[in-house]
Amino acid sequence: MSDELTLAIIKPDAFGAGHAGDIISHLEEEGFELRAARVAELSREQAEAFYAVHREKPFFSSLVQFMTSGPCLPMALERENAVSHLRDVIGATDPEEADPGTVRAEYAQSVERNAIHAADSPDNAERELAFFFPRTELV
Ligand code: CMP
Repeated sequence: MSDELTLAIIKPDAFGAGHAGDIISHLEEEGFELRAARVAELSREQAEAFYAVHREKPFFSSLVQFMTSGPCLPMALERENAVSHLRDVIGATDPEEADPGTVRAEYAQSVERNAIHAADSPDNAERELAFFFPRTELV
């Protein structure tokens, strides 16, 4: 099976706490190659658009506030089965339920401030990659 690209975001909690380097190392040890990355400060409009699928959820406005509270680090990552493997490596949304050794078990503070986002399907990976990276930036 050929390699696949997926989108991850090191969220403002983990980025602000200085964990970006450790999280990238963890992902590289899992075989992911960094294809694009940039520090971003999301506007409210951008955060609302990125998480539009959660618009009706009770945590939506709090999530948008958190994601705009400081810089974050969107990344394009390549690997065989990148989408599903990254979901395994980051662990459950709620760090209390995340398996030991996963990124969220190690760095997440709560179900909202959970250190990292990863696209949950190949279709969403494509949409989310396009949200942050023009095709020409993906090397
Ligand atoms: P993420 O994987 O980025 O996808 C949606 C985000 O919403 C999720 O990580 C959490 O940051 C947040 N989230 C999901 N469920 C809850 C919840 N029950 N309460 C607060 N925030 C949540």
